[in-house]
Amino acid sequence: MNKFFVLGAMFALIGCASMSMTPSAQSGGMPKDGELAFPSDYTAFPTFLKGIQKPNAVRDLFINKTGAEAHKGKPFANGSVLVMEIYKAKKNPAGEFTKDSHGHLTKDGLAKVYVMQKGKGWGANAPKGLQNGDWIYSAFKPNGDRLDVEYAKCRTCHLPLGDAQDYVQRYDEYFDTREHSH
Ligand code: HEC
Repeated sequence: MNKFFVLGAMFALIGCASMSMTPSAQSGGMPKDGELAFPSDYTAFPTFLKGIQKPNAVRDLFINKTGAEAHKGKPFANGSVLVMEIYKAKKNPAGEFTKDSHGHLTKDGLAKVYVMQKGKGWGANAPKGLQNGDWIYSAFKPNGDRLDVEYAKCRTCHLPLGDAQDYVQRYDEYFDTREHSH
């Protein structure tokens, strides 16, 4: 067997493999939960809301340009990306949360990055009964590595917002804040 034959056989194999993958690659164009690409430039996105206070965390939310073109009372367009940064809150050496002069928790390290993104027909990839319109969810470490989480939980908690708020928790607050900042 000469090396050209081996190479030829390898290309034939690769060719077959990629051809047989075409049907799933097409549905693969529609990601499932956990399969979204990490939006590595999200810190340059417009702000959605900043400094959200949780009992043990601070959260900053971003929305991409497509999403930021939305209007209250309407759903976000396909191609919208929402990002939530979850920061640990600072503690003193005694392990108690410390607050700034406004009584707010302050950020310590960035712990996780949660993403939801919407595309045409993507809801078909969601588990039955847990469709949140066409939104798909993914959770990442700050460096973009994927986190292993139960995506049904994301869906269950965002589901009650319904079509009226497009499954976005801070829907009303976002549009109200945006209006008042003009
Ligand atoms: C226990 C309920 C709950 C679960 C579970 C949950 N979320 Fe949320 N999510 C919220 C709330 C409440 C907010 C609004 C910000 C806040 O108050 O923390 C939010 C906000 C968001 C936002 C910003 C847009 C918005 O809806 O306001 C994204 C993105 C997001 N969540 C993604 C996820 C992902 C991804 C998961 C699963 C890994 C997830 N969420 C699981 C309750 C939940």
